[in-house]
Amino acid sequence: MAHESNPDAGSRIPNFFKMTVQHRLEVLTDRGALTTEDCRLLASGEHQLSRPVADKMIENVIGVFGLPLGVALNFLINGEDVVIPLAVEEPSIVAGLSGAARMARLNGGYTFTTTDPILIGQVQLVDMGDVKEARQRIEQHRDDILALANSLHPKMVARGGGARDLEVFVHEAPEDGRTMLVVHLYVDTRDAMGANLVNTMCEGVAPLIETLTGGKVFLRILSNLTDRALVQARVEISTENLAGKGYSGEAVRDGIVLANDLALVDPYRATTHNKGIMNGVDAVAIATGNDWRAIEAAAHAYAARDGRYKALTRWRVGSTGALVGELEMPMKVGTVGGSLEINPSVRINHRLLGNPNASTLAGIMGVVGLAQNFAALRSLSTDGIQQNHMTLHARSVASTANVPAALFDAVVDALIESGEIKVWKAQEIATRLRGRREQPTPAERASACGKAILMGEHAVVFGRPAIAIPVPLAMEALVRRRGSGGDVTVVISAWGLEQHLRADTPTGGVGSMLSMLLQQLELTDASLTIEIEPHVPRAMGLGGSAALAVAIIRALDKAYALNLSEEQVNALAFECEKAAHGTPSGIDNTVATYGQPLWYQRGDATTVEPGTGAANWNVIAPAAGMELVIGITGKESLTAAMVGQVRSAWEARPQQLNPVFDQIGDLTATARVAMETGDWASLGANMNLCHGLLNALQLSTPELEQLVYLARGAGALGAKLTGGGGGGSMIALCPDRTEAVIAAMERAGYAALALRIAE
Ligand code: MEV
Repeated sequence: MAHESNPDAGSRIPNFFKMTVQHRLEVLTDRGALTTEDCRLLASGEHQLSRPVADKMIENVIGVFGLPLGVALNFLINGEDVVIPLAVEEPSIVAGLSGAARMARLNGGYTFTTTDPILIGQVQLVDMGDVKEARQRIEQHRDDILALANSLHPKMVARGGGARDLEVFVHEAPEDGRTMLVVHLYVDTRDAMGANLVNTMCEGVAPLIETLTGGKVFLRILSNLTDRALVQARVEISTENLAGKGYSGEAVRDGIVLANDLALVDPYRATTHNKGIMNGVDAVAIATGNDWRAIEAAAHAYAARDGRYKALTRWRVGSTGALVGELEMPMKVGTVGGSLEINPSVRINHRLLGNPNASTLAGIMGVVGLAQNFAALRSLSTDGIQQNHMTLHARSVASTANVPAALFDAVVDALIESGEIKVWKAQEIATRLRGRREQPTPAERASACGKAILMGEHAVVFGRPAIAIPVPLAMEALVRRRGSGGDVTVVISAWGLEQHLRADTPTGGVGSMLSMLLQQLELTDASLTIEIEPHVPRAMGLGGSAALAVAIIRALDKAYALNLSEEQVNALAFECEKAAHGTPSGIDNTVATYGQPLWYQRGDATTVEPGTGAANWNVIAPAAGMELVIGITGKESLTAAMVGQVRSAWEARPQQLNPVFDQIGDLTATARVAMETGDWASLGANMNLCHGLLNALQLSTPELEQLVYLARGAGALGAKLTGGGGGGSMIALCPDRTEAVIAAMERAGYAALALRIAE
């Protein structure tokens, strides 16, 4: 129980599965599980094996092959929190493991022990005359043979490993008819998998064995039946913690024991049972660059060691009535050498695991096998597997129905509930949910818009105009009053964030903004909980921070009946933006507050300082039917860096950059006219030209380009990056093509949002 009470433990991350991929990377980096560089590599896709390197690894290379990489959470292993990387294509494995680990940590988690990492080498000998005498000669010269083997790898001996022992076996060759002696060389290979090393040793001692016996050596090769490198994993789960989904803990426990019993006596069941174990083991083996075929071969041979193939695990009722699970299997893995050093993803995954040595990695993999087996047996012995299959079926139907990412999980749940898992049903539910999301928010919730720059980004910094448009309902907030005392709790479930703070003490991030607001609104004595529901991803250039500020201010206004005017909301949000970003233009908070398209130009006589009043800013009234799609790269937008980059370029060659800014300014001005008159073809053409100029300023990225081309290919009239560039988002104008553009983006793995500016 002690461990569960610590929600910040390294491997417990609430709501991780609900986050975006980018946010998961950030959370793991914040917790120190990933380095900043690893996070960057994963976010940019640079973690993958490169083609030139792949070309040196195997023959006839034509590319590299990808697999999903996930992490299993909640693991407590030998008292330590471990985040476990898994490379696997089968759904439910990662979730099953995380669920099993979560349950086990309530009783102290998993434990493991391992033997020394011994790899066996085999030397096959024939034609040795007197078999008994040959055998004796080998055994008498045991030390000489081992010394010769070790002389071939002095470095391994220096690392504490090396050839430790040997044994001799006698077999009759069934076809050939001769007697064979087989020498087993037992080599401790420490952190190396050790295949090459053992093969070299076997080849190196062969001449000595021939001399000693007068026989002839034939095969000299390692054995993949690595039964001298065993892992034993164990878990104990009380019935109290096993209960759930309408089943008593005793029922779940006894079900798992009975399911395991079948796999102990019936090879047909044992094969499926062990396949489930290998679902977990192989996923870690691949993620950590280990030879999963070798591990598979060893596992199945070991499962048949008694002459009958059976389960690698044993589940039983312990003396306290708890469920006890044990696994024993060979696990010969490496953490140094070979392809492990070459593949950047593999190196990241080892760091994620805390750079374990080979024995610890073997232990973790044994635990993963046991946990995966638990997850499968628990599902099978309750109604879970059916449910899982139903979920999988519903997911595949929702995918066929092209359900957008933002509605996917909700549609899957509703499909299962309806009992009618059909494509038409998925489409019907998606349409209904989309309609509901577009409904006004309930009275007690406050909301605010995000923003996207339609035209003029970057040039605006140099005095040219820009057009910003609202992204409706970007952020929602709800304040619950809890009396007085100044205790504030902030919950952003979608980001896995729950922060407790004092109203009078700035603590960084959302906390600082809140304490500033509470002071300005004279609410520092109030105790409250604020729940925030973001509908746009963070750091994608969509004005999320200003929307957050406005939504919080409005929620406080509602909860404490402050009667703030829109001007006051905007002015307060501008203060928050200044605290967060230094010298913001004020566009974001103004669009977030008023939710209208805005024309902005620095020093323009028609534009008063944003944040000081609604009456004077320059609102644009677009014609009806302006339909847009925001494509989101998932890569953080580097606004500050990009603004700095453009400024340096301008300082170096103003006479070349000024005309570019002038052109962007002209395009923005004519875009406004097109927007007001509904001339979508002209607006689209202006957007395309503007993107070309922004590209000339080197603000685009491969992802932004892909999204721009996908949008144009699916019928958008114009498509361009929006905001800072260097990542973030792009915007496409696509009257009547919204669905097609969104589908194209989602098929390519990007998230997308539809925007309708005026009906
Ligand atoms: C599916 O990949 C694995 C299971 O079949 C394992 C088992 O039956 O124990 C669920």
